[in-house]
This record gives sequence, C-alpha cells and structure tokens, in this order.
Amino acid sequence: MVKVEDDKVFANNESRLKFHQKLRSHNLAEGYSYDEEKLKPRPYWPTEPKNNVLPYHWKWEVLGEIIKESGELVGLGHGKINYDRRVIALTNPGLENQYAITTSFFADFQYIRPGEGTPSHRHTPCAVRFIFEGKGWTTVGNENVDFEAGDIIFTGQFAWHNHGNKSNADLLFLDVLDIPLLQYLGVSKWEFDYWSVSGSKDVLAAPYDVKNYDDKIVRRSDLRVCGEKQVRQSEYFNHLRFKEVREILMNSLDKKNPYDGVMLEFTNSENQGAIGPTMAVFTQMLPPNEKTLEHRHTTQTIYVGVEGHGKIYVDDKVYEWGPHDVIVVPSWMWHKHENSSATEPCFLHSISDASLISKINLFREQRKLPNGEVEDTMWTNKYFE
Ligand SMILES: [Fe+2]
Ligand SMILES: [Fe+2]
Repeated sequence: MVKVEDDKVFANNESRLKFHQKLRSHNLAEGYSYDEEKLKPRPYWPTEPKNNVLPYHWKWEVLGEIIKESGELVGLGHGKINYDRRVIALTNPGLENQYAITTSFFADFQYIRPGEGTPSHRHTPCAVRFIFEGKGWTTVGNENVDFEAGDIIFTGQFAWHNHGNKSNADLLFLDVLDIPLLQYLGVSKWEFDYWSVSGSKDVLAAPYDVKNYDDKIVRRSDLRVCGEKQVRQSEYFNHLRFKEVREILMNSLDKKNPYDGVMLEFTNSENQGAIGPTMAVFTQMLPPNEKTLEHRHTTQTIYVGVEGHGKIYVDDKVYEWGPHDVIVVPSWMWHKHENSSATEPCFLHSISDASLISKINLFREQRKLPNGEVEDTMWTNKYFE
C-alpha cells in the first residue's frame, strides 16, 4: 500500500504545508509531483515493479525450537480453553506489523503433536502445506489424504478441511495462504462450524470427519516441466509426494534450465494451469556443484528447503539454506541458486503468485545470458514456459 505523504515532506514550505493539510482534511491528496526543484515520480508511480517486501531468511534451527516451545503453551484441538490451530505466523520485516510474508501470501508454521487434530473449517483463501517433519492426515472436502515429510498438499477455495497426527512423532508443516491479497480485495471469508457444533467459542468440538461436502476443490493435479508447456499426467490428488517427485527430478536432468536447475510445476489437471487461482507451486533440484545464472521476475516467491544445502543470492545478499529453512525473494530482485555440495543434489519447494500475475498479463522475466546480455520476456500471460 502506498501511503500519502505526511506533513514533514512540506515542512520547509508553509503555504504548501497548509494546502496539504487542507487537502487531507477533505480526504484529498496531491496527485502531482510535490517536489518544487525537479519533477519526481509520485509515490504511487514506482519506476520498478517492486513493493515493500524484503528478502528474508528464517532458519530452521531457530524456528524449530520456537515452534516446539509453543507446544508447551498452547493446547490444541478440543476441550476447554484450547486452541483450534497451533500456528506461528512469519511476518515480513518490510511489511509493518502485518500478518503477511509477502503482500500476496500469509505463512505460518503449524505444530501438531502425536494424537492431536484440528477441527474443520473452510475459507475463500487457498492453502498449500509444505510438510517438514512427521506423518499426518488431512481431509479436504470428502477426500482423505495421508502425507509425510517433504510432501505438498493443496486445499482449494472454500473446501472444508481439517488435519491431524496419528503417528507417535511430532508433525510440523508450513502453511501458505493467499490471505493478504484476498483481504485487500475484500473477499476473504472464513467459516468455523465447530463453534455452532460446540455451542461456544471457548469449547471446541472434537475434530470429526467431513462428509460429502460439495466443494470447489481441485480433484487431480499434474506436473509440468518448467521451460516447457507440456504437462505430465499423474495420479496425484491435491498432493505432491516428495518420494515420487524426487525420482522424477533425478531422472529429468536433460530438462535442466539455466536459472532454476530442474524445476517442475505442480499443476491443476482441470485447466492445465497453476494449482490455484493465485498460487503457483514448484519443486526443483540442483545437481551437485550447480550454479545457476541470474534472473528476476514479477512474482514474489517463498522458498522452502527440502533436502541438501544450497545458497540463494538475492541482489547483494546470500542466504545459505538447509532443510526446512524459509526464504522470501521479492518481486523483480535479481537472484540465482547454488548447490553447496560437490556430491549430493539439493531440493527446494517454492510457491509464488505467478498464477495471478500471469492472469492479469503482468508476468515479466529478465534473464542474464552467459555473455552478460539480458533477455526480456516483456509483459506476458505465461510464466516459465
Ligand atoms: Fe484452513
Ligand atoms: Fe526465480
């Protein structure tokens, strides 16, 4: 969001300050350049497609400890004075006090201990879960899915869902939802039927199986090799199993592209497009010693370390990541990848708003070529084809 300039911009010019204050008292603001010396772009005329989101790296060694601490403080699932979700939100340092990891997406870590479960609810925001540790189950609409570490689960718009942990070990995952975007547009709506079931906001009903809800969920999903248009058919149901996809990545070295290594997109089989209307989800592998070339694009990306160790260079910063680390790469910042190992491949999942940005014809990518020239896609409704 672009803020109207405050009084101090006009502090040295009394008549301009008075006029500014008069405008503000009527809910008006200067739409012209406010600099008398030279023509300056207006605050709402950025000359680069960027916003206030900052690159940031959440390391698992810190997060893992913090999330487990929450297990001692926050009861989950059912019974009096317990909570419906035990989650810790990741807040971007460039977005003042907002529940947002980028301006498009909200992200949180969710911790479910052995035997615990969450009551079902539904919401217009879509959700993608990146499973970090443990084994769990989820019900989306009337489908049940078991998942494990490394997997990705998609929950479509307004689908009833709950999830839980049947195993003897802790279950930890990252949720990413398009909440900030939908909230901004005034279309975020949530329903919690356990409040009516339990008759109280303070006493949650026990998790229960969802039966035959007719939801707009993606029934099947496929895979696309980034750099190509063609989609590979699969049997996935809203669920990308890392064990299977790891093998596909390892067998697709000939599909390697210079900017992301081998990268697959987790797609929606109904329209062959992105998995969700706002979200595009990818998984990628960098072979040992791989160093990619630099590129930038008009999407905000959240990376999740899955296996191995690597580096992401973002403008002048370097983030050395390991499994479960989370890294934000904002829109239009130059970035490149590196595998830190000479012997082992490394794997990353990622999620971006490429699905929405391409629908409004504003995806753009610039790629640095080995000879230093820059290739530019200009504005387009395609991404990574
Ligand atoms: Fe949810
Ligand atoms: Fe990229």
